[in-house]
Amino acid sequence: MSAAARGRRATRSLRETRGAEASALLSSDAARAAIALHGTPVLLLDPDRVRRQYRRLRNALPFVRFHYAVKALSHDAVIGALAAAGCGFDVATSEELQLVAAHGVDAPRVIHTHPIKKPREIAEAIDAGVRTFVVDNETELAKFEGTPDDVRILVRLAYRSPHAKSDLSSKFGVGAFEAEHLVERALALGIEVGGFSFHVGSQLDDPERFVQAVSETLALMSALEKRWGIRFSTLDIGGGFPTAYDAPVASVEEVGARLRAVLEPYAERYDIIAEPGRVMVAEAMMLVTSVAGIAERADGRWYYLDDGLYGAYSNVLTEDVHPMIFAERELQGRATDAAPHRWATLGGPTCDSSDVIAREVMLPDLQVGDLLVSPVMGAYTTVTATRFNGRPFTPVAVVGRGPATGEVTAITEPVRVGQTVP
Ligand SMILES: Cc1ncc(COP(=O)(O)O)c(C=O)c1O
Repeated sequence: MSAAARGRRATRSLRETRGAEASALLSSDAARAAIALHGTPVLLLDPDRVRRQYRRLRNALPFVRFHYAVKALSHDAVIGALAAAGCGFDVATSEELQLVAAHGVDAPRVIHTHPIKKPREIAEAIDAGVRTFVVDNETELAKFEGTPDDVRILVRLAYRSPHAKSDLSSKFGVGAFEAEHLVERALALGIEVGGFSFHVGSQLDDPERFVQAVSETLALMSALEKRWGIRFSTLDIGGGFPTAYDAPVASVEEVGARLRAVLEPYAERYDIIAEPGRVMVAEAMMLVTSVAGIAERADGRWYYLDDGLYGAYSNVLTEDVHPMIFAERELQGRATDAAPHRWATLGGPTCDSSDVIAREVMLPDLQVGDLLVSPVMGAYTTVTATRFNGRPFTPVAVVGRGPATGEVTAITEPVRVGQTVP
């Protein structure tokens, strides 16, 4: 079988798995209760899936300490689940720090990784007890002069990753030459350099790139240690683990195995930490929308949904990821293969022309009010949504699982995203 044919088969099988999971969740009492309470759109969040991802990461890289990147999904149920499981947290703002602190997470479990911070934000984090910060330029470094002795910085390195959905290297990070200069300046200013951090790029389906970044950083650390007779304590390998949206990607176990081979020899020598965001939460949330309007246009059938790019589908707009979309009719077997299907365009609800969620989606014929679902909507969705056209944020309903059966059994009081950060 050709590689292309294997790829198509793997994508079909992913679609079947995602469809089966979506169908089970949508027909659960919890989902029905959430839809009855809120109507649509509504997001169903299952914290158990977050706990499961954390377990997978720990099994794959047992010597790494994980700090969940709160920016991916700053929902209380996620923070609570990970805090209880002993996970650390990576925050980028004072608001994220307050949210984590509200869950009783003590400051040593928190790192502040935004390379650019107002002096006030640094002061607030230090007051709260945070001691690890990230720096990638001299102006930022100077802000740490005179901070308590136990504050330490990590120098952020930039590795280009054109294959990542979000290549962060043009906005943040420095090359080896500038990094060396920053370490030298920090030593001169009496600021402790704990080590280095990097982010290979978000949604990076390229285990080899992770390995290269780790290897280059380890080589730099060892060269600088020799040159200045110092010892670094920490290597922060960032986030970036990919999630399967519309096609299979390297699994946590595959990326973990590649990383383990290069990192394990250093597990005793350095405190190795990571900041995963997307992979922890993406699969934990499913969006339920419904058809608000239908039109025949020059390019065919359009369905207008009640959520879109300015709402929960903001990941399509900001990240160019493409979550699968299923009609309830097809999931529950009400649309047989013989029933009319057609290519359709899915528009979002706002009164502008950019709000198009997907084109050329094969769907059974739908009516106003019919439900559609998108699984894998946990990461960078609600957190980047807007209230364009005055539309409210899509509510999040937390669904729980019975410990014995694993069946979805409960719904807790839903929380609007905008209310979760104090
Ligand atoms: C500093 C930092 N750490 C971690 C993350 C999380 O990355 P990901 O969601 O790709 O795992 C990000 C995402 O932008 C980031 O900027």
